[in-house]
Amino acid sequence: MRIELPHRSERFGAVRIHGVQEVWELDSGGEPAALEDPGWQSIHHVPTATINDYERRMAIVIPVMGERLKVLDGVLSGIPHDCLIILVSNSERGPVDRYRMEKETLRRFCRLAQRSALLIHQRDPGVAAAFADAGMPELLDEEGLVRNGKGEGMLIGLALAQLSGREFVGFIDADNYVPGAVYEYVQAYASGFHLAESPFSMVRISWRSKPKIQAGRLFFNRWGRSSQVTNRFLNLLISAYSGFGTEIVATGNAGEHAFSLDLALRLQFAAGFAVEPYEYLNVFERYGGVITSPDDDVMRDGVEIFQIETRNPHFHENKGADHVQEMRLQALNVLYHSPIATPDVREEVLEFLNQEGVIGEGEEPPQELLYPPMSVVDWDTFGRVLGDKSESFRQIEQVRPSAVERQTPIPDIPDSESKG
Ligand code: GDD
Repeated sequence: MRIELPHRSERFGAVRIHGVQEVWELDSGGEPAALEDPGWQSIHHVPTATINDYERRMAIVIPVMGERLKVLDGVLSGIPHDCLIILVSNSERGPVDRYRMEKETLRRFCRLAQRSALLIHQRDPGVAAAFADAGMPELLDEEGLVRNGKGEGMLIGLALAQLSGREFVGFIDADNYVPGAVYEYVQAYASGFHLAESPFSMVRISWRSKPKIQAGRLFFNRWGRSSQVTNRFLNLLISAYSGFGTEIVATGNAGEHAFSLDLALRLQFAAGFAVEPYEYLNVFERYGGVITSPDDDVMRDGVEIFQIETRNPHFHENKGADHVQEMRLQALNVLYHSPIATPDVREEVLEFLNQEGVIGEGEEPPQELLYPPMSVVDWDTFGRVLGDKSESFRQIEQVRPSAVERQTPIPDIPDSESKG
């Protein structure tokens, strides 16, 4: 992949946010990068072998809830072969068992593509017990199950990525109609990690366009309705500390994004759709130098955030205006209640929410649920309880044609089928 080097970067304490970088060439060939000197080139070539190396160390988590199976199948086909696929489903189990259909789709895909995968249902009592026993009962609701929500699904995926021993974790929504876009996102994740100088890094995708049909024609929209608001307010927060206006954040809501596990396990995540904007906020809270950081090593090495603008259009299921409104409100709720939100920023949030008619005069936005960092989890306990109690956890082995070579993603943990 040939990718622009970031022209501008901004600092927030120990956090470096790089400006949006464009993809120039999807596949820039196999020549070693040493032929170019990133010091004077403005475009960087990431050789195919380097990208493959990161893919082998990466798990891709797909949160899914009731999406069309054909679309899911397309998403699976776009994930580079060497990444481990982790499907976390919150789809209905009855009267139609959609989870079972997703399992069949994944199993068939893996058999034909000769690859391995992990699969689990979010409302499986076994995964809830694993979190409770391993030190993270906050994820559970009053029924004693992991709460509903995209953020919660992502956390289960993160836990499985950690158990599998992968070093990077990326997220891809299951409702993406363009398998080529999925493929490009993962290549961009790999390229970002390759450019990172710190072990604590995050790569977020900014799409060049999000096509819509308007008046019978295709219109290539630049920004989603929710992103415009989220980005504006995150930039306002940065400006409040730097004293300079900025537009550096372009990916506040990015559903497609990836982390080094070294960073992801130290962050707090928010519930539901507050999850993506809160990733930015929590990085600023922990490593922005405004309040005391719990992690000296991260403060020393710094956090790097890359924002990569991909070439493929982002074509996904349209879930309607209410859904968009809900997402942007959740972003503003977490910002308002952040310990680093300045009085001016809070005031602007209130003004916006007032204008939107969401809260009345003198009211405050609601608090979103925030979870502790996953570093609190005792991984031995988590794996043991998951293996013992889960009803839906499934490890799909990679089987080579001769059927002699089999590889289970997490060798020491039994799944629901191997238990009999
Ligand atoms: N496991 C799980 N659990 N998955 C879920 C849940 C849940 O409770 N809720 C939604 N999902 C899955 C969906 O099936 C889809 O694959 C993905 O999470 C995103 O959910 P959507 O409901 O399709 O969100 P969206 O497409 O409107 O918004 C996406 O893009 C935004 C940026 O524009 C999401 O990724 C947002 O988080 C993101 O901010």
